[in-house]
Amino acid sequence: MTFTNILLETKNSIGYVTINRPDKLNALNQAVMAELGEAFAALGDDKGVRAVILTGAGEKAFVAGADISELAQQDAVAAKEFALRGQAVLNRIENLGKPVIACVNGFALGGGCELAMACTMRLASENAKFGQPEVKLGIIPGYGGTQRLTRLVGKGRAMQLVLAGEMISAAEALRIGLVNEVVPQAELIARAEAICGKIIANAPLAVQYALEAVNHGAEMPLSEALFLEATLFGLCCATEDKNEGTRAFLEKRAAVFQGK
Ligand code: COA
Repeated sequence: MTFTNILLETKNSIGYVTINRPDKLNALNQAVMAELGEAFAALGDDKGVRAVILTGAGEKAFVAGADISELAQQDAVAAKEFALRGQAVLNRIENLGKPVIACVNGFALGGGCELAMACTMRLASENAKFGQPEVKLGIIPGYGGTQRLTRLVGKGRAMQLVLAGEMISAAEALRIGLVNEVVPQAELIARAEAICGKIIANAPLAVQYALEAVNHGAEMPLSEALFLEATLFGLCCATEDKNEGTRAFLEKRAAVFQGK
């Protein structure tokens, strides 16, 4: 697979995806979105990849939004297709079946903030800035921003970000729950790798089912979500890894999981 707008590599069971248009602050044009879709499809299928780290090239931006020069040319029909295609890529990331950590190393605006929100968790560097400035351009968020932001930070704060279009600092993003942690820029990837390492040491199917329970459960009434949780809990108990994990605890040794 050859990419021109993103970088993709795999190391120690971690997939690294870097959006690579630093001269345009990694703005998401259609070529980037198509390559992201392909890369995440491949990472989802690759059994050797247990977690993914997503970041932007350079020290200034994660992603400064959808590419405004492309947006400027779009009519209504093309814009609807554009939004649906982008949403499909973000849905794939959200439901990859393995964790994706966004390392937000600078501006995460518009589609950049939306992309980060589709990830399983978000780490921000101290210089990161977040925002949904679409209304300043005469549009609204189209890659899930009105929905995922509301679910992450609550309706009032989402309204303020989406309607005022103001940027917020990494510290403010941490305060409102938009990011999990803020770390110095030089330590961002290492911190994500440390979190990935802890996840990778755990039972692969249990990690996958936990992710599915949280994601699918969030869309369901509580009673059905709890039923889903109980069913996936039961499914875990049919795995070899559950036998190994419980036996290893009782034998006071580290578990060796097979993902079976
Ligand atoms: N789409 C297309 N190009 C973009 C872009 C975007 N979303 N964001 C930045 N760029 C380009 C700029 O046009 C500029 O290109 P040029 O050097 O060919 O002129 C380059 O990236 C650097 O950006 P610049 O604006 O010069 O950097 P800055 O440090 O002065 O400002 C921002 C940084 C992020 C505040 C500013 O670029 C910005 O407001 N970007 C748009 C953010 C936005 O509205 N995103 C939502 C889109 S729906």
